[in-house]
Order: sequence, then C-alpha cells, then structure tokens
Amino acid sequence: MKKARIAVLVSGGGTNLQALIDAQAAQTIVSGEIALIISNNPEAYALERGKKVGIATEVVIKEKGNQRDFEDKISALLSQYQIDFIVLAGFMSILSETFTSAYPKRIINIHPSLIPSFCGEGFYGLRVHKAALDYGVKVTGATVHYVNEIPDGGEIIMQKAVAVLPGDTPEVLQRRVMEQAEWEILPLATEMVAQQIIKG
Ligand code: GRF
Repeated sequence: MKKARIAVLVSGGGTNLQALIDAQAAQTIVSGEIALIISNNPEAYALERGKKVGIATEVVIKEKGNQRDFEDKISALLSQYQIDFIVLAGFMSILSETFTSAYPKRIINIHPSLIPSFCGEGFYGLRVHKAALDYGVKVTGATVHYVNEIPDGGEIIMQKAVAVLPGDTPEVLQRRVMEQAEWEILPLATEMVAQQIIKG
C-alpha cells in the first residue's frame, strides 16, 4: 500500500514526535510514514529521537529574520523528500500564508489547549497552561487542527479534554495534557489525515 510521506517539523524536546514514532512502530499509524524531520533549532532533542530510528533529519535556520528564504528552504526539502503532508509538533516558528496556502489541508498542528480557548498569538508552551490556571478553568486539553494563515485558526480535527487539578502548576498541567491528550490524539489525527490523502 502506498503510504503518505510525512514531514514532522520540530523545535524542541520532541515528545510529540516520539509519540508519532511509537505509533508508527505500534501500527497505530499505517497509512503514513515519517520520511523527514525538519527543525529550526539545531539543538532540538527531537532531532536525536529521529536519528535513533533512522529517519532523515534536516535543520533550517531563519537567517536574519528572512522568512521567505527560510520557507523556500523548507519547501525545497519537502519536494526533495516527496512529502505529502506536514505535521507541526512543537514547531516554534511562524509559517506565512504564502507557505500554508501552498499546502491546503496538508499541514496539521498540535496545540495544548481546547481551541478556541488559550490560543493564537503569544499562546505557546507553558504560557498556554499558565493562562488556563490563571483563568481558573476546570478542564483543559489539546487540539489537533489544520494550519492556515491564522495562528491556531484552522479547522479543528480532533480534541481531548484533561482535568485541571487543585494545586496544579503550569509544568504539572503541561505534562498531564501531553500524557493524557497530545500524545494520544496527534497520532490518531495523523493516521486519519494520512488515510484521507492516500484515498485521494
Ligand atoms: C507541546 O506542548 C505542544 O503542544 C506544543 O509544544 C510542545 C512541544 O513539545 N505545540 P514537544 O517538543 O513535542 O515535546
């Protein structure tokens, strides 16, 4: 069976990438294969996670804020590796409308809240969980959505709720959201999108 070729874009620790790698090994993901990992951060541990299992890794640095050049380099790699769809897994760089519009419904992202809460400009990493705790919500979670030009604005694909517990710190809540939601729904959503792509 022809599988969708997936590129995972990362910037940090890569625990969501690891969830995808593990899901591929466990055959939770069967309609796609991770063919490439791209990081904008040469120090990202996510790169090590890919190297350990023999997945091609590339680093693309944004030189002096040159967004166009940065995106052209990424696009060239996506063509070189014949990528069908892109998963943003903790990728901490913006992608312009020029870039995202070239891949309609072919880019997905994992966000650590129940969109439309605590998302958009400036909501990333621990800031998301701090905002949830500051507001006093009793339930938070994670969202997988298609990526368009609006930060965290694309069509929602999958969500999972996670309880906020008394005494939670942003770090403790982040870990629970990762363990109970992100690492579960990102592989499931990736398989779903890969299936749609290979069905054509
Ligand atoms: C995760 O919390 C994810 O929701 C957000 O950035 C973090 C990435 O973590 N987009 P990791 O690099 O996957 O461990």
